[in-house]
Amino acid sequence: MTQSQSHRSRFLFLLLATGVVALLLAGSLAAGDRTPAKKSVPAQAKDLSQYIGAETCKGCHEENFKKLETTPHWKTMLDTRRGKEWQGCEACHGPGMEHMIAGGDKSKIFGFKGVTTEKINARCLDCHQYGEEHSNFARSVHARNNVSCISCHSIHRAKESQFLLIAKQPQLCFSCHVESKPDFSRPFRHRVNEGLLKCTDCHNQHGGFLTKQLRGTAAQDVVCFKCHVDKAGPFTYEHHPVKTEGCMTCHLPHGSANPRLLRRSQVNLLCLECHTLSSDIDIPSAPSFHNQSQKYQACTVCHINIHGSNQSNVFFK
Ligand code: HEC
Ligand code: HEC
Ligand code: HEC
Ligand code: HEC
Ligand code: HEC
Ligand code: HEC
Ligand code: HEC
Ligand code: HEC
Ligand code: HEC
Ligand code: HEC
Repeated sequence: MTQSQSHRSRFLFLLLATGVVALLLAGSLAAGDRTPAKKSVPAQAKDLSQYIGAETCKGCHEENFKKLETTPHWKTMLDTRRGKEWQGCEACHGPGMEHMIAGGDKSKIFGFKGVTTEKINARCLDCHQYGEEHSNFARSVHARNNVSCISCHSIHRAKESQFLLIAKQPQLCFSCHVESKPDFSRPFRHRVNEGLLKCTDCHNQHGGFLTKQLRGTAAQDVVCFKCHVDKAGPFTYEHHPVKTEGCMTCHLPHGSANPRLLRRSQVNLLCLECHTLSSDIDIPSAPSFHNQSQKYQACTVCHINIHGSNQSNVFFK
């Protein structure tokens, strides 16, 4: 018997074996107690006889089956602990009996097409709502703007070998965030395009509690401390804005035309935004001997440890 014959006979056998179910179904449909509206297929049905198993799907969808074998989701086939409704194809597509009996009726299977992003995300989160990384997806800016798991991941046609991504970073992110792209071509930048760090080092694409989907450190501090630990202190003499207003008061996080990712082209312009006579009375103005046409322009030549110091209250060392 050839392979395709074997599939066919298995299919016929199943068709016979489930004829009773088909009749029951037809009956209930006629009775009108069931609205077979497209996409009403439940995620995990109570009635386990509705599950036909991946081998049966393979008969008609060999390509999808073979592809799945090569991905981490194959593990769901091998894990029998939670029952067959959590295994393989039907864990994502829902029970396949009606779909099969109807000869592949698309309206009788959850196909991920023409459904809301909430429904798509809910399917995936049935298994992936664990840990800090994914448990906040519903509150993410992405979810709230109709970005779903499969906007970035593909189960059957992933382009990347890792994480089932449809494209690798940063191209994946730039495909929607075109407005951020120029930031990373500036003369001074975090070298994301060069692969030194990833967008997702700073952002949690799966959502979290902070604005701009930013990550924090393990100690719930600003993400910058993850890598720039020397700026975290605590210092005997803190430079207040570093702690109170944050890194972005002085730096642009993605990239800048100015060295050290500074917001201003000259350091003195940056400092004098706060340290002038006219500013907040709590902030000392630069002393009057700080002549701005002379050597007092390059503030950080003398005030070296601008993020804080353990030895000098004016950050000289
Ligand atoms: C982890 C969830 C998941 C599993 C497991 C899964 N699929 Fe899918 N399937 C999807 C998603 C999501 C789509 C929508 C297209 C896409 O995003 O790739 C899809 C699409 C399909 C399609 C529509 C055609 C296509 O390729 O886009 C078929 C047919 C299909 N799957 C069959 C199967 C079969 C057969 C199995 C088991 C061997 C299976 N799927 C396992 C999630 C899954
Ligand atoms: C008797 C053959 C047969 C079997 C068995 C079968 N399918 Fe299908 N399936 C089809 C046909 C035919 C289509 C429609 C293809 C088309 O029109 O593009 C289809 C379409 C689909 C789609 C796309 C739905 C959409 O909205 O576009 C998915 C997903 C799918 N099948 C999943 C499964 C899964 C999962 C199983 C096993 C539980 C399975 N199928 C078993 C024949 C079958
Ligand atoms: C905006 C794009 C995007 C969206 C939306 C998205 N992901 Fe991801 N996901 C990624 C990227 C990028 C990675 C790889 C991160 C890395 O390289 O460290 C990833 C990694 C993962 C991983 C593997 C690593 C881990 O965290 O365990 C899983 C599982 C995952 N995503 C599941 C999901 C699920 C489930 C959803 C929907 C609820 C989803 N993703 C939505 C982009 C996305
Ligand atoms: C039945 C449970 C289940 C469902 C439903 C499910 N997954 Fe998974 N997923 C898993 C398991 C198990 C792994 C493998 C984890 C491991 O390797 O430790 C996995 C791994 C992944 C990974 C990481 C792949 C890698 O290379 O490390 C991504 C991304 C992912 N799933 C996305 C999705 C998306 C998107 C959906 C919805 C379309 C989805 N999953 C639905 C169980 C599930
Ligand atoms: C499918 C399109 C799409 C992809 C791919 C995508 N995003 Fe988004 N992202 C959006 C939309 C839509 C919003 C909400 C509107 C906005 O702020 O632009 C958003 C919002 C964000 C925000 C919050 C912006 C704010 O103002 O609060 C960040 C940060 C972000 N995305 C990062 C990423 C990263 C990192 C990646 C790559 C891993 C990525 N996005 C991939 C569509 C996408
Ligand atoms: C070094 C950390 C870091 C990296 C790497 C990073 N971001 Fe950001 N991103 C931030 C911070 C911090 C903000 C918030 C800026 C603010 O609030 O002023 C932000 C803001 C954003 C925003 C909101 C709009 C805006 O510009 O304020 C988007 C969208 C975004 N980032 C996308 C991306 C993408 C896409 C990548 C990768 C190409 C990326 N980010 C890489 C730290 C980073
Ligand atoms: C994932 C690690 C990582 C995170 C998180 C990170 N950085 Fe960086 N940062 C780097 C690396 C690596 C460099 C060196 C870049 C290079 O050599 O191209 C750098 C360089 C810089 C520079 C320029 C240094 C110089 O000598 O020109 C500044 C300023 C900076 N980061 C600020 C920040 C701020 C502000 C944040 C938080 C929004 C942040 N970084 C988050 C890794 C990180
Ligand atoms: C009050 C303004 C200000 C704030 C707030 C600030 N910085 Fe800076 N930062 C500077 C200046 C000015 C320089 C350039 C110093 C120089 O010229 O040597 C600098 C340089 C840097 C550098 C590169 C040189 C070095 O010392 O390693 C890094 C990295 C950096 N800052 C990270 C941070 C991080 C992380 C934060 C938040 C915790 C932060 N900065 C907050 C003003 C600031
Ligand atoms: C966002 C406003 C802001 C910016 C920008 C800023 N500072 Fe400050 N700076 C402060 C505040 C607030 C204090 C704390 C004053 C206090 O302790 O009462 C301070 C304290 C200082 C002190 C210590 C003064 C003292 O008597 O304790 C020095 C020196 C100083 N800043 C230098 C600089 C330099 C140099 C720059 C530019 C690289 C700079 N500051 C940028 C707000 C700012
Ligand atoms: C050539 C070295 C040098 C440069 C450059 C310099 N300063 Fe100073 N700065 C000093 C000295 C010296 C003091 C006095 C320290 C003391 O009182 O112990 C001082 C003190 C300060 C104080 C503390 C004033 C107070 O009342 O507590 C501030 C604020 C300050 N400088 C800001 C700046 C700013 C802003 C710039 C750049 C525009 C700058 N400095 C450039 C040497 C310098």
